[in-house]
Amino acid sequence: MRLTVVAFTVVLLAAVTHAQAQKSAELALTPPMGWNSWNHFGCAITEATVRETADAMVSSGMKDAGYLYVNIDDCWQLERDADGFIRPDPERFPSGMQALADYVHARELKLGLYSDAGWTTCGGRPGSRGYEFQDALSYARWGVDYLKYDWCETEGLKAEGAYQTMARALEAAGRPVVFSICEWGDNQPWEWGKAIGHLWRTTGDITACFDCEVDHGDWSSWGVLRILDMQDGLRVHAGPGHWNDPDMMEVGNGMSESEDRAHFSMWAMLAAPLIAGNDLRIMTEATRSILTNREVIAVDQDPLGIQGFRHSKDGDLEIWFKPLEDEDWAMCVLNRGTAPRRIELAWQDEDVADTFSGRQALFKARLYRIRDLWTGADLGTTRRALSAEIAGHDVLMVRLVRMLDAND
Ligand code: GLA
Repeated sequence: MRLTVVAFTVVLLAAVTHAQAQKSAELALTPPMGWNSWNHFGCAITEATVRETADAMVSSGMKDAGYLYVNIDDCWQLERDADGFIRPDPERFPSGMQALADYVHARELKLGLYSDAGWTTCGGRPGSRGYEFQDALSYARWGVDYLKYDWCETEGLKAEGAYQTMARALEAAGRPVVFSICEWGDNQPWEWGKAIGHLWRTTGDITACFDCEVDHGDWSSWGVLRILDMQDGLRVHAGPGHWNDPDMMEVGNGMSESEDRAHFSMWAMLAAPLIAGNDLRIMTEATRSILTNREVIAVDQDPLGIQGFRHSKDGDLEIWFKPLEDEDWAMCVLNRGTAPRRIELAWQDEDVADTFSGRQALFKARLYRIRDLWTGADLGTTRRALSAEIAGHDVLMVRLVRMLDAND
């Protein structure tokens, strides 16, 4: 009798553990970095392009700068076999997904795939609805490390439940996978996504313009500033292992160099996932040097994982702050307008307090060394006011490095 009771308790405990542990807790402790096929290639993605992209990620220095995931978005899949297993498009992925995963892993990179919670994906390919456990098993067998899970053709489904089902399926398949929730912020994923996934899209799709809306009929895609403005109020939901995702980057996809720089800087200030969306094989040196700027990446990847905030706004000029480790701060002045703007920063006039993290930039009591993260220039200390001109659609991004004072 006693034995039965013990056995029952063990089963119950296992069930409780299973219900709670739905994502790999050790992954994405800093925002995921990598590349995704969609923004540049759309549906026209092939295994050759993925291989060449993995190679380019290594040869361009992106891997060394921290980019890890090589993610294939929509249209890799074509149909299910007679037993219901999802199959890659045999023309575009003739070697199969396991061979591709092996190729990517051999370069010490990781492979990501895409599916959808509904019957079909946004590109009209088979979705995972009703096949969640079977699909998760295929991904694990192939060696997939990251899953972006979309939200097309999901009428009647409840988002939290649908994403939870796939999280359970991934867990049951036994391979640690970064789970990227992509329901465009429609169902407040920041309220429930933390227990289920590692990142969640907060908005509709990005498009390669600085400040525009592209109307597609029943949906719109958005430029960088539009997406930035939609992040308002969300920072309290982000932290290590659970990130707001303002969508993949458009750096190198047609905006001007300063716009790309501003885009990349603001994504770093937001502690956003840094998923490049350009063709890495043919990028210009200007694009490469933006994407691999290690000091800007360090702002994004700061171990505290505190999303930055807009501190003040004066017309087209915005000042953003982000608390960093060792009591450093990142500061980014964004010029949203097209005309150059001059600023004068009298640091010692005002301390900056972040009520969410409880951190303070004590400009009155402490000194910070100012490092320009785009030019690499040493801009002195916060003892003296800083005067600078910021070109249109550009930024001044600095790291304020705390200097030890007499009391330390
Ligand atoms: C949706 C997503 C995009 C992309 C496409 C693929 O629009 O939001 O990021 O994955 O589907 O069809």
